[in-house]
Amino acid sequence: MADPTDNDDRRDAPAGMKKGLTHYGDTGFSLFLRKAFIKGAGYTDAALDRPVIGIADTGSDYNPCHGNAPQLVEAVKRGVMLAGGLPMAFPTVSIHESFAAPTSMFQRNLMSMDTEEMIRAQPMDAVVLIGGCDKTVPAQLMGAASAGLPAIQLITGSMLTGSHRGERVGACTDCRRYWGKFRAGEIDEQETADVNNQLVASVGTCSVMGTASTMACIAEALGMTVPGGASPPAVTADRIRVAEESGSRAVQMAKDRLTIDKILTPAAFENAMRVLLAIGGSTNGIVHLAAIAGRVGLEIDMQALDRMGRETPVLLDLKPSGQHYMEDFHHAGGVATLLRALKPLLKLEALTVTGRTLGEELERAGPGFAQDVVRSMDRPIFPQGGIAVLRGNLAPGCAIIKQSAADPRLMEHEGRAVVFENAEDLANRIDSDDLDVVADDVLVLKNIGPKGAPGMPEAGYIPIPMKLARAGVKDMVRISDGRMSGTAFGTIVLHVTPEAAVGGPLAQVRNGDRIRLSVSKREISLLVPDAELAKRMKENVVAEPRAERGYLKLFLQTVTQADQGVDFDFLRAARITGKIPRS
Ligand code: FES
Repeated sequence: MADPTDNDDRRDAPAGMKKGLTHYGDTGFSLFLRKAFIKGAGYTDAALDRPVIGIADTGSDYNPCHGNAPQLVEAVKRGVMLAGGLPMAFPTVSIHESFAAPTSMFQRNLMSMDTEEMIRAQPMDAVVLIGGCDKTVPAQLMGAASAGLPAIQLITGSMLTGSHRGERVGACTDCRRYWGKFRAGEIDEQETADVNNQLVASVGTCSVMGTASTMACIAEALGMTVPGGASPPAVTADRIRVAEESGSRAVQMAKDRLTIDKILTPAAFENAMRVLLAIGGSTNGIVHLAAIAGRVGLEIDMQALDRMGRETPVLLDLKPSGQHYMEDFHHAGGVATLLRALKPLLKLEALTVTGRTLGEELERAGPGFAQDVVRSMDRPIFPQGGIAVLRGNLAPGCAIIKQSAADPRLMEHEGRAVVFENAEDLANRIDSDDLDVVADDVLVLKNIGPKGAPGMPEAGYIPIPMKLARAGVKDMVRISDGRMSGTAFGTIVLHVTPEAAVGGPLAQVRNGDRIRLSVSKREISLLVPDAELAKRMKENVVAEPRAERGYLKLFLQTVTQADQGVDFDFLRAARITGKIPRS
């Protein structure tokens, strides 16, 4: 076992209730006052002498993905008490995808700041972070990475699947599928209302390999959850046991001073990237990993990530790339089954929250068993990693495509651009019978990047124009500087960097221009001469969006591009010390 306490010079630092005293100019008085107030809640000196474990409680009536938070908090507290600690739950910002305007990504950095500052401000020796819905886990990992304490991620867990007229359904791939059927006139309003009751069958996060499931798997691959922490559904006994174990583990981490920087190493990030690729994970996973890595001074090398993708097959048979749901993945052994299959490609020396390495935890997980959700390396779902990195004059920074969810017929494609200037323009014209569009065209949506929308909404899943959908067209090449939900599918180029709103070449695309996508060559090109592109840039100078006040002003002034995780520049580590992946 690795010794996580090596070279720790903080053993004599104040701990428990003595930590981070409020400044009154007299430390004795500060502690006296703090204890007086907390005793108002009925605590004894014996309780207050224990290691304090903070619990970031993100329960909210606006967040059904965290609907089990009260049970999880109770179980974490039990685990903390069993291990001799004092649990202290505290609220933070909670974000649900469908209840956050203009888009949840706009609030992710706010939640990370809230998490970081409340960990810093309040006395605690370790923290359990309860997160699940898409932006919450990255926000918590970003904040905790900057705060620097021992931290452990507790996932809320996935929802159960439902049943509609004999067919198994789950959010949100099936939400999109049924909405597509409605738009195409294949189902009526009554059936649309009926399926709406079945798509989310319980509290918990989306049941497919969307961003929430992706981030759960990434958190476990990073070593930030207890083993098996990613996959138990929200309403199961397994999930409650994981919560109790997380509480107990946090106490030990506090005693060992197993701080987050010992876990979030380059090796851990490489494992997370392997897992992201092998699960056919959400493209959002790259943005969030870049943001978390940026907090500890690491930058993602997109070309190296693409090379990693070429040698990492998709092994997990989950929607939208495959056919199963998260609860099936859990029954198949969860992340341990996947890691066993990926073992030759992993950095087994990476430390986890247990104080043991990933390799040691894999040994402890024992042998696998027969199942049909995780494939072996010689029988993959898709021969390469789910995500490919593209470059070209349309995306000099980079762009990405989730090739495992794309139509193979469109991965090498040239077509005429049909341009929408922004999300409003798209909404106004996409379903018009007058729209000049055919199935071979390339739909281009500008100004939905980090600054453009703002907040880089998941609007990159541009709908198929109504008249083509009704004619049976299921997929087209679509390009934007925005993001796409991990539950979506199609031949969709995303995260075009630099975005249109900061003057990227995407801003200069015009109706009728030819665009070439070649996934095999990793190319996305605007087929106009360089001189013409330069002329357009000179004549059409883009004015960056600004705001007068408030969080929007801070956001627009400091948000970075997709390749830096859409984090605020002042929240990233002061110095970048390395690139990942290294191999
Ligand atoms: Fe919360 Fe999908 S909406 S995980």
